[in-house]
Amino acid sequence: MEKVSLKGSAMMAPLPAALVSCGNEDERNLITIAWTGIVNSQPPMTYISVRKSRYSHDIIEKTGEFVINLTTEDMAEATDWCGVKSGRDFDKFRETGFTPGKCEEVKCPLVEEAPVNLECRVREVREYPSHDMFVAEIVKVHVNKDLFDDEGRIRLDSAGMLAYCHGEYFGIKKNPLGKFGFSVMKPKTKKRLAKEKREKIRRDRRGEGKKSPAPDKSKKKPKKGKH
Ligand SMILES: Cc1cc2nc3c(=O)[nH]c(=O)nc-3n(C[C@H](O)[C@H](O)[C@H](O)COP(=O)(O)O)c2cc1C
Repeated sequence: MEKVSLKGSAMMAPLPAALVSCGNEDERNLITIAWTGIVNSQPPMTYISVRKSRYSHDIIEKTGEFVINLTTEDMAEATDWCGVKSGRDFDKFRETGFTPGKCEEVKCPLVEEAPVNLECRVREVREYPSHDMFVAEIVKVHVNKDLFDDEGRIRLDSAGMLAYCHGEYFGIKKNPLGKFGFSVMKPKTKKRLAKEKREKIRRDRRGEGKKSPAPDKSKKKPKKGKH
């Protein structure tokens, strides 16, 4: 395919449209953040890049804490709103109706309606010309109970996650293309997994695939791919 060359730009996609909560009981806020990602596995580290002019910037700088709340299609409109209005003018929790929940490790509120919340403590601030990058350790994670399947795996594919792609929001539809490492999986394993999947679909259709209660978070370690 012929390419069109453009000048360097922040063209990265898809990205999360994360709702970041910050502050404490006296001063709380929500800011929509797309400039985020993971920077380390052990300890789990993330970053958010925030313009100095944002109301949230000063709060995070002062408190050294924030929560990344992953968003869903249902949250798209409110997430966009939090990304165009400032906490200087609005109590964004009150205006959006999001419920502030209690964190375990940090003082800022989490968003109860988000399926996943990452409690973060800032470890380093890197200043760039337009944004400051808050590099932070993820000190606690909360996941909605109904996202755990029978085997204790976290099924974010059924959460209706929201993605941000070059100025537009998209829902991530349930169209799994493969698991972590599927490109190097032995044909025998691929066949077995395909068979298991077919059987599960059949069971679900017959109504036998009802979810059992989620495992005790404190005991069960969810399986995940290593990156
Ligand atoms: C989808 C989306 C992504 C955004 N990503 C960022 C970001 O990564 N960093 C940033 O500083 N602002 C980002 N913004 C802009 C802020 O969310 C916006 O300026 C917000 O009103 C700031 O709120 P505050 O003044 O209450 O902190 C984004 C906005 C939208 C809609």
